[in-house]
Amino acid sequence: GHPHVARRDGNLYVEGVSLDALAREHGTPLFVYSRQWMLDALAAYQRGFAGRNALICYAMKANSSLGVLRVFAEAGCGFDIVSGGELSRALAVGADPARIIFSGVGKTPAEMKQALAAGIGCFNVESEAELDVLNEVALAAGQRARISIRINPNVDPKTHPYISTGLKGNKFGVAHDRAVAAYKHAARLPGLEVVGIDCHIGSQITDAGPYLDAMDKVLDLVEAIEAAGIRLHHIDFGGGLGIDYNGDKPPAADALWKQLLARVDARGFGDRQLMIEPGRSMVGNAGVCVTEVIHTKPGEDKNFCIIDAAMNDLPRPAMYQAFHAIVPVSERATDATIYDVVGPVCESGDWIGRDRALAVEAGDLLAVLSAGAYCMSMASNYNTRGRAAEMLVSGDSARLIRRRETVQDQLLSEQV
Ligand code: LLP
Repeated sequence: GHPHVARRDGNLYVEGVSLDALAREHGTPLFVYSRQWMLDALAAYQRGFAGRNALICYAMKANSSLGVLRVFAEAGCGFDIVSGGELSRALAVGADPARIIFSGVGKTPAEMKQALAAGIGCFNVESEAELDVLNEVALAAGQRARISIRINPNVDPKTHPYISTGLKGNKFGVAHDRAVAAYKHAARLPGLEVVGIDCHIGSQITDAGPYLDAMDKVLDLVEAIEAAGIRLHHIDFGGGLGIDYNGDKPPAADALWKQLLARVDARGFGDRQLMIEPGRSMVGNAGVCVTEVIHTKPGEDKNFCIIDAAMNDLPRPAMYQAFHAIVPVSERATDATIYDVVGPVCESGDWIGRDRALAVEAGDLLAVLSAGAYCMSMASNYNTRGRAAEMLVSGDSARLIRRRETVQDQLLSEQV
């Protein structure tokens, strides 16, 4: 289930590149991404939309490293951004501003101004208050902001509560019942131009059911909004498609879109531009994190395998009790021991994997799989740990896309 890595003669490879050789040269922890895996993930969405007027906006929060963004920009992707910082990253890799959409519940006037100046394609507005502020910012800049309103369809995506976003109790979007009124309000504001509708129900979704339910609710609203005389040029269906971490079986992107498009066509909206904002499914299984075993430590209840990657590099287990497969980079013939794989950070929450059978010794390399999404982009400097280096593999060659952060990098922005 992890096609981004392959074992040959007992050693792990990403595409044609040996992880052992990379780690020996560049040190650990080291994130390694397969360019081909990203392009294949994108291709699955493109196949799903073949023959349609569609725009795939990569949700760059999943992995916003410039080397990764460049792969998607070159492939013609748009970007879903959530901050002025992410806008700067997208522009730095030459993204087409017209293909940038701006999501998020708390855009500041400064960020709105920056995005208007850049000429982004659409603001995904998340509240009525935001409509008014954006209207004012646009008028002051002598511009009209293209907007869609994010609808909260109140659908349970059946995923971890921290990554569910389309339920009534979530902070995201405008409630389904308020949506038509919000659109009527937006249509009256001279600084805004209504162009679309959007929704996003959550992340790591492995079941097509919630998508289909949310799509039905969005399409109900498209009908109601257009009946009120407001034409919607695009329908943005958000991101959220899951990946295989631990035998998970999410629908394939092309198969899912076939089902969703049938619903769109049945309502007669097949002529609209269709947009999506996938993040995790574009990069998650493209990446691994290579880490070195510092010590093995027998304990009274548990054995610990202490590695040089920690919760600051791989925050998902600590934050969401997430599972990432952990495998040796080079296999040993010895018997496996059951370990809790933990980092050096001074917290009991700093675990990367629990109860894993591993045949390892200090100095061995391990690969944490499915580490392309929401790992490096969520990395921190906790415990004054420098952030890891990143490499992009294409065929037999590997390029450093981020050098290892030094302690000098960290101290530079501070003064006593
Ligand atoms: N669009 C919006 C408005 C979003 O909020 C998100 C993710 C996406 C698109 C992309 O969703 P994806 O395709 O990646 O599921 N850090 C968590 C995931 C947080 C997702 C936040 N929003 C994790 O590591 O599981």
